Amino acid sequence: MCGIVGSIRTNANVVEFLTDGLKRLEYRGYDSSGIAVQTDNGLKRVRRVGRVALMEQAAKDKGIYGHTGIGHTRWATHGGVTEPNAHPHISGDLISVVHNGIIENFEAERTRLQGLGYVFESQTDTEVIAHAVHDNYKKTQDLFTTVQQACANFHGAYAIAVIANDKPSQMVVARMGCPLLIGLGKGEVFIASDVSAVVAFTREIIYLEDGDIAQLTADGVAKLIDKTGKTATRTATTSQVSLASLELGAYSHFMQKEIYEQPKAVADTAEIFLDAGFIPQNFGKNAEQVFKEIDSIKILACGTSYYSALTAKYWLESIAKIATDVEIASEYRYRDVIANPKQLVITISQSGETLDTMEALKYAQSQGHTHSLAICNVMESALPRASELVFYTRAGAEIGVASTKAFTTQLVALFGLAVTLGKVRGFISDDSEYSSALRSLPNDIQYALNLEPQITTWASKFAEKPSALFLGRGIHYPIALEGALKLKEITYIHAESYPAGELKHGPLALVDDNMPVVVIAPNDNLLDKVKANMQEVSARGGELFVFSDLDNNVEASDKVHVIRTPRHVGVLSPIVHTIPVQLLAYHVALSKGTDVDKPRNLAKSVTVE
Ligand code: F6R
Repeated sequence: MCGIVGSIRTNANVVEFLTDGLKRLEYRGYDSSGIAVQTDNGLKRVRRVGRVALMEQAAKDKGIYGHTGIGHTRWATHGGVTEPNAHPHISGDLISVVHNGIIENFEAERTRLQGLGYVFESQTDTEVIAHAVHDNYKKTQDLFTTVQQACANFHGAYAIAVIANDKPSQMVVARMGCPLLIGLGKGEVFIASDVSAVVAFTREIIYLEDGDIAQLTADGVAKLIDKTGKTATRTATTSQVSLASLELGAYSHFMQKEIYEQPKAVADTAEIFLDAGFIPQNFGKNAEQVFKEIDSIKILACGTSYYSALTAKYWLESIAKIATDVEIASEYRYRDVIANPKQLVITISQSGETLDTMEALKYAQSQGHTHSLAICNVMESALPRASELVFYTRAGAEIGVASTKAFTTQLVALFGLAVTLGKVRGFISDDSEYSSALRSLPNDIQYALNLEPQITTWASKFAEKPSALFLGRGIHYPIALEGALKLKEITYIHAESYPAGELKHGPLALVDDNMPVVVIAPNDNLLDKVKANMQEVSARGGELFVFSDLDNNVEASDKVHVIRTPRHVGVLSPIVHTIPVQLLAYHVALSKGTDVDKPRNLAKSVTVE
């Protein structure tokens, strides 16, 4: 949620980095953006409502040139989407600040600062940072100490970058709860919320830790203190992120690219189990001990990651025979819970920084849960760092706001976990059927991708409809949920999902010839039940769009459209059946002309409540 960048570049225009970096961080928020640059003619700020490209053009038109600057791309939390609310925020023509996160006590700070005579121009929480720093700076002229003093008063989560107009070659950054890294170049230094913003400029990266405050010059880190206030050193690592993975290449959208990357992403993740075997060590050093100790599992996640958890419950209970409970993280964290030290708390998150999930984990730990496992796609992000055990999916960078390959790789991880626990708990002696299912999975996904031309023919029918219903049963019900979420997220068509057996208990009332009903109907033990539910829809004049396997005698007719994957893949069928619902949402979005990669009101990384 919101992305920040900053840089000091001795020999180049900082604007080039700021705008490029912000474009790469747009997935974190894209309602407005801005930069502040120290130029020969003083501090210049450009802000625009809308995409970074608009702000970039404005900066070009104004001919902004300078060596030190900061930038921000926003997902509005405090205050509407307006230019005055866009960052950077400036105080006294001296201090400029960009901020990702939320200052929870901003109201008290605002009152305090208003009492000192500061006039607020925005409704944001961030403006208190600018004025608080300014107030201290007037007295000390020491930017580092000033930021340190200001941060000591803030409650909440933040990553900030601060520059002072009279210190043209300095920047101070601070991190608490939101991601922030420093990129080291030759005679230049960069900061960003995410490594994707800097890898085109440098690969030498320092990941700051919570509570760190650092003073930067073009030569790198001049000073760094940790959360205790002591001087600390942070070692740089070389980022392996490939630039190609951050580019669209031949694709029209990142979502399309990421859907098509799934055979590889899934193969890369499955390789962990296929190479090493289904062994606890894949989940961390202490995993064997932990897996032997636990008597149940609680999974906490949000959105698409929550649906992967719902799918995993079926595998964990049937393959590993371990009681599994799945809960939306934002709900869990605000209720009384009964902690069980023998329960493994699993968090699932593509980004690893979703605040609701992070806080749910902290809450679980505070209530007495001792064992935790994070399943995450971003190395060293907040959730893995706070967890006892970690499994990194190998989806690669996911940039489209709608999660696709992160979901299917989470499913691979969770399937691998179920088989591993099944072995540890003595329910599996021969895992060959599971490894061979994983080995075939990339091909099965490829076959599902090949259905795209057929799916395209359905898209225009959905594009005209105000609503759609998604049905599934058993382990395919979470895939129906995921299909509905993908559709509503990127096409703005209202979509709901139900277990098909629930239809007659209420939602059947919605069915008429204007309500397309998507059914996930693979050839499994529930097929006859699903077919009976489909009859209930047909009898009410509903139009069915069925994703199925070959040889399952679901007959197509005028109002029953069927697309079949080439074979029923058994236990991994939910992963294969995810592909058609992703493609359906994608093509409906194309028909409607919506912004596939940046749907309205959303952002990829949700670091606010
Ligand atoms: C939907 C989507 C979101 C995320 C959710 C959790 O396509 O991407 O629902 O799944 O915001 O995000 P992570 O997995 O980063 O915790």
